[in-house]
Amino acid sequence: MGVRFRGWGMAVPDRVVTNDELSQTLDTSDEWIRERTGIRERRIGGSSGSLGALAGQRAMADAGVSADSIDFVLLATTTPDRIAPATSTAIAAELGLTCPAMDVNAACSGFMFALRTAQGLLETGNKRILLVGAENLSRWVDWNDRNMAVLLADGAGAVVLDYDENGGDILSFVLGTDGTAAELLTCEHGGYFQMDGKEVFRRAVRVVVDSAQEAMERAGITSEDISLVVPHQANIRIIQAAAQRLGIDMERCVVVLDRYGNTSSSSIPLAFFDARENGRVHSGEYALLTGFGAGMTWASAVVRWS
Ligand code: ACO
Repeated sequence: MGVRFRGWGMAVPDRVVTNDELSQTLDTSDEWIRERTGIRERRIGGSSGSLGALAGQRAMADAGVSADSIDFVLLATTTPDRIAPATSTAIAAELGLTCPAMDVNAACSGFMFALRTAQGLLETGNKRILLVGAENLSRWVDWNDRNMAVLLADGAGAVVLDYDENGGDILSFVLGTDGTAAELLTCEHGGYFQMDGKEVFRRAVRVVVDSAQEAMERAGITSEDISLVVPHQANIRIIQAAAQRLGIDMERCVVVLDRYGNTSSSSIPLAFFDARENGRVHSGEYALLTGFGAGMTWASAVVRWS
């Protein structure tokens, strides 16, 4: 499989909203939010298009590639700025691109589903893809609902992906959907996110563990070989429970939800960016990327950085 990760970028709004600030208007507390979710603060503001374009620009600069070499823009988002046109077209325009651009929505698994789509595009003739995860979840939060308001946030992450005929960084991919669980986590047109948090929690741990185990098996490795886990950032307790079942200690798991909350499609690229900035990504090592989201959807991939 010939997909190489070339360069990464991220963008978050400047506005920091702390747990204490939320506690001023909601019946909640910093202590409850930190203990039950791991979140300390989050970023709120911007739009999926503006944050996505900035993250994309930074990923291209990081990769050292020019905009005219990109031949496809894929945006993973649950919160497009408009129903039409696709927000990816706004990102393409902002970056001066006229190549094909489209949105992918698989909720919090969106980045992984779009990565799988990018893989298919690269293996069938495309040379270089800009893959962006961008969310503006705050727009779809009822700020009087403590169940959702403490969790969701805004942000974007992006990666440049190249085709390499000599091999690739993605060793295995496992994705799935259970549409019968749709009502557990929804957002209607003009409405707000609503969730059965307990049931999402329970199922999330199961699908992450099952898909991760299968992805490792397909890659011919075990959890001992994994140096880094880049999980979807929903709740520290979900990450801890899944890691424990997989036999992976928390030191190998990337956690950024304390600073950014749950940014859905953006959370895996944000977490990866943070890990790389902190010197945790090393050539030749195995990483597990894993996520879950509304749908329900789930996805795990084993990656070996080149
Ligand atoms: N502040 C203070 N108290 C609260 C809050 C809050 N924000 N929310 C709930 N409580 C109270 C409840 O009312 C309950 O009180 P009670 O015992 O008097 O009834 C108590 O705290 C415990 O509530 P639980 O719902 O049992 O809390 P839990 O430990 O399950 O944590 C949470 C709730 C954080 C939502 C957790 O279930 C969770 O993380 N679920 C998964 C969320 C997730 O991963 N979402 C998916 C992605 S989102 C997307 O796709 C866009």
